Amino acid sequence: MIYTLEECCAMVEAQLAKLNIGAGEPANLYAPVEYALEAGGKRIRPVLALMACNLFGDDIQPALIPAVALEVFHNFTLLHDDVMDHADIRRNRPTVHRRWSENVAILSGDAMQVLAYRYLCRAKTELLPALLEAFSAAALEVCEGQQYDMDFERRTDVSIGEYLNMIRLKTAALLAASLKIGALCGGAEQQNTEALYRFGVALGLTFQIRDDLLDVYADPRMFGKATGGDILSGKKTFLLLSALEKADSATRRQLLELIGNGEIADGEKIRRATAIYDLLDVRRTAEQAMETYSSEAMEHLQAVKIPDASRKAELKKTAAMLLKRTK
Ligand code: IPE
Ligand code: IPE
Ligand code: MG
Ligand code: MG
Ligand code: MG
Repeated sequence: MIYTLEECCAMVEAQLAKLNIGAGEPANLYAPVEYALEAGGKRIRPVLALMACNLFGDDIQPALIPAVALEVFHNFTLLHDDVMDHADIRRNRPTVHRRWSENVAILSGDAMQVLAYRYLCRAKTELLPALLEAFSAAALEVCEGQQYDMDFERRTDVSIGEYLNMIRLKTAALLAASLKIGALCGGAEQQNTEALYRFGVALGLTFQIRDDLLDVYADPRMFGKATGGDILSGKKTFLLLSALEKADSATRRQLLELIGNGEIADGEKIRRATAIYDLLDVRRTAEQAMETYSSEAMEHLQAVKIPDASRKAELKKTAAMLLKRTK
């Protein structure tokens, strides 16, 4: 049988609930873990893992614990990311470092990373070497991407190529690893596992470009995060880099001066930067780039060889949904 997005999500929620992580002591270590994991996330990484597994057979149970490990790991990255990005709101609630403290976000995040590995290690023994390699490779790539992301805040000469490499590391690698891990749990052949990984990389690029776009243009209630944060921290997002590329030299200077200006009030800075983005229509530029990577993703999915290609329908639907997401 083929599991739908909703069914995959429900399985992930049930497995997370069963782990009962929030019950641990001390409460100030585990309550933030539960807070981070309890609600509001899209669960896209575990869902992709389950769907990848489901391509190769009806039994997706072998992918369930690894899928949950991916979700716990993802939420760990969010705890630390929100400290690094000085973000106050996530999923319409105060971030862990705001609700508790930075020290709590660091330590609970560390615990989540350990928990993620503990859960992953509960997978079938014969799968473990490959799963651990895929998981660890992605985990390290996320760190590499996060460091580039921070390094780029202080640079004004970042190219679109450097940006794409940065988001491939910080975001796409974990989505791609989720698909790979699901495929490995489903017993997929190497060529199919690799095609799914490449599908995940391209999907991950669209995912982060969409996140950049939503950081400026989303309805904050729907998005669950405060908008404008990327502008305030000088993040080299797809929108900013496209604007710098498209602008004439005067507008380019004006935009760089604005981004680097510490005197202007936050709201005003966001308003002025957004006005330049609108003028240069970089929202459309971003949407076009997303379309490009999304078609590329579809080609990689096409390259997955299974007897019944209709099993790919849920993954296709999910990819299409991510392209238009508002949260
Ligand atoms: C947020 O990830 C971090 C990025 C890679 C953009 P998600 O957008 O998957 O966050 P949740 O888990 O659904 O809240
Ligand atoms: C997220 O990038 C990458 C991670 C590894 C967490 P962002 O910093 O844009 O993610 P959000 O917007 O805070 O969720
Ligand atoms: Mg960040
Ligand atoms: Mg962030
Ligand atoms: Mg973001």
